[in-house]
Amino acid sequence: MHVGILTGGGDCPGLNAVIRAVTLALHHECGARVTGIERGFHGLLARRSRPLAPADVAGILAEGGTILGTHNTCDPFRVQDGQDQADAALAYARELGLDVLVAVGGDGTMAIAHRFGQRGLPVVGVPKTIDNDLPHTERTFGFDSAVAVVAEALDRLATTARSHGRVMIAETMGRYAGWIALEGGLAGGADIILLPELPYDVQAVAARCREREAAGLPTLVCIAEGAHAQGEGLTVRETLAHSPDPLRLGGVGQRLQQQLQPLLQSEVRTTVLGHTQRGGTPTAFDRVLATRFGYEAAQLVKTGQHGRMVALQSGACTSVPLNEVAGRTRRVSLDHPLLQTARGLGVGLGAA
Ligand code: F6P
Repeated sequence: MHVGILTGGGDCPGLNAVIRAVTLALHHECGARVTGIERGFHGLLARRSRPLAPADVAGILAEGGTILGTHNTCDPFRVQDGQDQADAALAYARELGLDVLVAVGGDGTMAIAHRFGQRGLPVVGVPKTIDNDLPHTERTFGFDSAVAVVAEALDRLATTARSHGRVMIAETMGRYAGWIALEGGLAGGADIILLPELPYDVQAVAARCREREAAGLPTLVCIAEGAHAQGEGLTVRETLAHSPDPLRLGGVGQRLQQQLQPLLQSEVRTTVLGHTQRGGTPTAFDRVLATRFGYEAAQLVKTGQHGRMVALQSGACTSVPLNEVAGRTRRVSLDHPLLQTARGLGVGLGAA
């Protein structure tokens, strides 16, 4: 058997751990040949690949990023000048002699993989994203590592907040879902957590900061990049034409600072955590999860269960049909127990 593997979308801690697990499991359990496709689906068009033997994946478990490279705008199904490039990609896969392609990525990657499956290239998906926003899986690898970065950043911002009596705002990633801000904010002891799922009331946020000012306390705010004030739209940093996910969010922390500053005595400052959340070595949890996902993907390949994405449900590895995941996202539900926990602790969620 000959198996291709690629990593698509943004990089994320744990990608290399998946590449390693898929390669080692397929090699040890069925002597399969594994080929890495470079830079996501772009590699199928640019005809760039390389063999992956156990020696090629030695020592990469703890390495951030992806040894294969990735691409977050390439979609071979995008129609340009009246035609797409899927046939060219499929021709290269056939030329390589791939029996199955393992695609590791987020919702955009799963959507493209699903379309290749419909066009006759057997595919298996592995859910990756620091945003933790893929449906039918309670965790994606990379999320735990991002949360750890947010928690550490908040710990560090807290010392300045205390020393200067400031309101310190930390803006997290997460796109349209608040998972990183919610778990990172709780882990870092944020006093106010603002999520895309709960549009905030500026006056309510200011009132919470003033209460703390009056008690001589600083305020730590953790805001998701997709959060927005009631009646306002998203804060968009840039729009990438031709990307499956064209809006790049960013800047809402600064916007909140401008809204709050006139209403407060304390100085308000903002830190955008940005790509630090996607970088560096995966946490031990993510190394294990990525390894489990990679092993599970190898089982789907071995048993011919194509068109499925590996998933974590009730703590166990399972799989779901790709068509139930493709192009969809999972947001924080308004009755999520962590929201109740936050409220119970007096954490402000932006409501009056
Ligand atoms: O989906 C992962 C993610 O890091 C989002 O949280 C963020 O909005 C986006 O990717 C940033 O993408 P880029 O690296 O292209 O700016």
